[in-house]
Amino acid sequence: MTELYDLAKRDRLAFWADQAHELYWHKPFTKTLNWSDAPFAKWFEDGQINASYNCLDRHVLAGLGDRVALFFEGEPGDSKVFTYSELLAETKKAANALIALGIESGDRVAIYMPMIPETVIAILAVARIGAVHSVVFGGFSSDSLRSRIDDAQAKLVITADGGFRKGRAHPLKEAVDQALQEGNCPSVEHVLVVERTKNDVTFGPKDTWWHDALSNAATEHVAAGFDSEHPLFILYTSGTTGKPKGILHTTGGYLTGASYTHRTVFDLKPNTDVYWCTADVGWITGHSYVVYGPLANGATQVIYEGTPDTPSFERWWQIIAKYHVSIFYTAPTAIRTFMKIGREIVEGHDLSSLRILGSVGEPINPEAWNWYKEVVGGSRCEIVDTWWQTETGSIMISPIPGAFKTKPGSAQRPLPGITIGIVDELGAPVEKTAEGSVAGYLTIDEPWPSMLRGVWGDPERFKETYWNKFPGKYFAGDGARFDEDGDIWLLGRIDDVIKVSGHRLSTAEIESALVEHHWVAEAAVVGAKDEITEQAVVAFVILRQDEIADAPSETDIAKILRDWVTQKIGAIARPRQIMVVTELPKTRSGKIMRRLLRDVAEGRPVGDVTTLADSSVMTAINDKLHLGASD
Ligand code: WT7
Repeated sequence: MTELYDLAKRDRLAFWADQAHELYWHKPFTKTLNWSDAPFAKWFEDGQINASYNCLDRHVLAGLGDRVALFFEGEPGDSKVFTYSELLAETKKAANALIALGIESGDRVAIYMPMIPETVIAILAVARIGAVHSVVFGGFSSDSLRSRIDDAQAKLVITADGGFRKGRAHPLKEAVDQALQEGNCPSVEHVLVVERTKNDVTFGPKDTWWHDALSNAATEHVAAGFDSEHPLFILYTSGTTGKPKGILHTTGGYLTGASYTHRTVFDLKPNTDVYWCTADVGWITGHSYVVYGPLANGATQVIYEGTPDTPSFERWWQIIAKYHVSIFYTAPTAIRTFMKIGREIVEGHDLSSLRILGSVGEPINPEAWNWYKEVVGGSRCEIVDTWWQTETGSIMISPIPGAFKTKPGSAQRPLPGITIGIVDELGAPVEKTAEGSVAGYLTIDEPWPSMLRGVWGDPERFKETYWNKFPGKYFAGDGARFDEDGDIWLLGRIDDVIKVSGHRLSTAEIESALVEHHWVAEAAVVGAKDEITEQAVVAFVILRQDEIADAPSETDIAKILRDWVTQKIGAIARPRQIMVVTELPKTRSGKIMRRLLRDVAEGRPVGDVTTLADSSVMTAINDKLHLGASD
């Protein structure tokens, strides 16, 4: 694998063209990159390609139709196997069903589903006909779903009656009904509903069962090629403002990035490996490393519907043993959870099939890294700590197995073809010394195929968020430093984005949800350090005295407001703690000083308060906390 570094160094664009040539092109490209309209990139622009064809038809035509594509494990214990031929047959029917509902190339389709095979089929069917999917994580509330449907102007929603989570049938169709009620989301013409849990659902004139639509659909469907820059999907992610951004990815470049990184970082041997990524398809990791990367590479993979603790914490390890998983990809939060429970639960299972272990979503601390290596990996597996983002589309920084010695806690080097920088506030590269560098801002210095192509409907926001801070460079929003060997250490977000269990949340979005409640006059949200989830949501609120005259006690208020955030955004954004305060620390220009609130939330002595307009505020907040009036 080390030769990839040399190849990419010698001729970066030729290297990317080679990676793209691993895919099937309906019409070959002659131009690799057009960067003349930077930061709007065009990769392989005169080529035509079909993502679904590359994930399915290509393998079946190569004689691999009987290879298992998906081992599905349902939470209640049911399981199902799909070969590549079977997955293709279902996808063709689903594509025809979408066409019958009037979906055309370029139309947006929202997908709000549990982790079941139909979700993968739905995604591949949408892509197959050139429509654009917008997957919304099933844990998001109906309000979040509604704003995403509206922003993308989705014509169709694909959902399920429910999904199994933590031993319960978690409803989904109900949330779709709520999102669409009272004439909301007028762009939606149809709703397709997969039957999974047999929950009671109400059917209206827009609703059709998935199984009816598929059984009425023609079985043959010939996939056409689309321009390489044809939109493939939109995925909403949190930024520094209250409104999530629709990150846009296009076909040829994205698929090149997802497949190249999947086979390289995981050292994939498609005919022998069994791969399992625990991410939900609602996140970018599920897009690139459950759907597009593994399937484009003809991998055999496991998908699991539920949570790691159902019916017990044995579940994941049983699944690894049952399917002889050899490549496993998960988040540090999960590792830390198991560390806390104790190694016995892992050690009781035969995990000898494992050979590569991946980590993603947040920095992995050296203790968790070592535990992962030793307890899960039996000290024999390679660990790959992979840094990337929704926006980058695929892994940017990671060791390549066997290429060099790994280091606990460091994502180490940019992948071949990727150019990374660390700069100071003025954009000057931080100086590398024998001891390593100081911390700076992480940048990506040259365009790459799977880069985002924009923010849906907002080209200005795209330029402003990612390209204006350091002209010509992509600004990632993370802090980082080089160590003495030139290896990269990620230091977390430097903006108001927080990571809770690897999930990305915006403090501003949670604040605006809180102030939508009539009790709340003002809110400030911070990410406080958490032993398991890396960060946790802690909110400080000022109540409106006129509105709370007969409100319950402060404890009840906190509980009600925490529920409110769950209802507004989703359970992942639920504050760990809400503190009722009478004032918030602000500078003279009125900016909330979150640094001080973080000190409070993390139980530290409060730092420098000299820039506060009123320095007694922090004393008041602290005194109040010591009286025990928190959540
Ligand atoms: C943010 C992106 C990438 C897929 C899942 C998250 C953080 C991600 C790492 C890592 C340190 C990491 C960064 C990044 N992050 N992976 N290996 N080490 N930090 O995608 O939701 O778009 O979040 O996750 O802060 O900016 P995302």
